[in-house]
Amino acid sequence: MITSSPPVDMETSTSVQLSLRNVSKVFPAKGGIPFFKRNSTSNFIAIEDISLDIQHNTFVTIIGPSGCGKSTLLNIIAGLSTATSGTVDLDGQPILGPGPDRGMVFQNYALMPWMTVEENIRFAVETVYPKLSKQRLQGIVRENIDRVGLDGAEKKHPHELSGGMRQRVGIARALAIDPKILLMDEPFGALDALTRGFLQEEVERIWEQDRKTVVMITHSIDEALLLSDQIVMMTRGPAAKIDEVLEVPFPRPRNRLEVEQHPEYHKLKAEMEAHLYRETRFVEQDRIKVKA
Ligand SMILES: Nc1ncnc2c1ncn2[C@@H]1O[C@H](COP(=O)(O)OP(=O)(O)OP(=O)(O)O)[C@@H](O)[C@H]1O
Ligand SMILES: [Mg+2]
Repeated sequence: MITSSPPVDMETSTSVQLSLRNVSKVFPAKGGIPFFKRNSTSNFIAIEDISLDIQHNTFVTIIGPSGCGKSTLLNIIAGLSTATSGTVDLDGQPILGPGPDRGMVFQNYALMPWMTVEENIRFAVETVYPKLSKQRLQGIVRENIDRVGLDGAEKKHPHELSGGMRQRVGIARALAIDPKILLMDEPFGALDALTRGFLQEEVERIWEQDRKTVVMITHSIDEALLLSDQIVMMTRGPAAKIDEVLEVPFPRPRNRLEVEQHPEYHKLKAEMEAHLYRETRFVEQDRIKVKA
């Protein structure tokens, strides 16, 4: 089923976990991309009036043209950035800053280079739960190393790991603090296609274990179709909005082959391709106009 008119209204459901209401973000004039600036005094409206309800235990991906405001939106949910207007509530409580109820996985891994795999994970857990016993702490570190398949790499430093392994550490670290929701900003963006494919399937497998709510940014249509319950498609910026939210009906657990054979697969894929093509073409046209 495809829902269209934004804002996405799922308020009849009792299991909304994350609720965004009329969220906008305006950056001061100096910061925006120059070709979008109409004059030097105008502020840059990155996202405008975004409303979205995300239900418990769902996997939601956000897709949209480059520079449209996906990271801006995710950073507001993470509490790393504040909305200029609008509200974000997690389980009914307003998000006012970063917190351990949200685990973040970054595209560039963001690991401590001087710490080993297990030290990176332990450090995150210790910071959030300083009163844990050594034994319990070690148990959590062990469990999450196993969960992401890093057994044997515990004592290695980030520079000794492949990109895929580093991202596994990032995921283990985010899961180890047992957040309510997991936020991922293009977690596989820096990986080669094969590693990316393996990790996508790993994430699907890990997600099946506890179905923690996930909000993930991606540029990959196939990745979104493999992993998501809903795909949020954003318009181009400035003043980016939600264009449409696609419901992904494929049964779980999923694997790539079965997903690709589902009768809805090609229709959804074509719809996403058309959306991205249209929005990206407008971005290119804006760019040409500014150059002319
Ligand atoms: N701190 C900032 N100051 C000024 N402008 C900013 C700032 N952060 C982001 N922007 C602008 O806001 C817009 C959205 O940026 P954002 O990083 O959210 O896009 P994105 O959709 O994540 O892009 P990509 O797909 O390339 O990662 C861009 O035009 C960007 O230049
Ligand atoms: Mg981004």
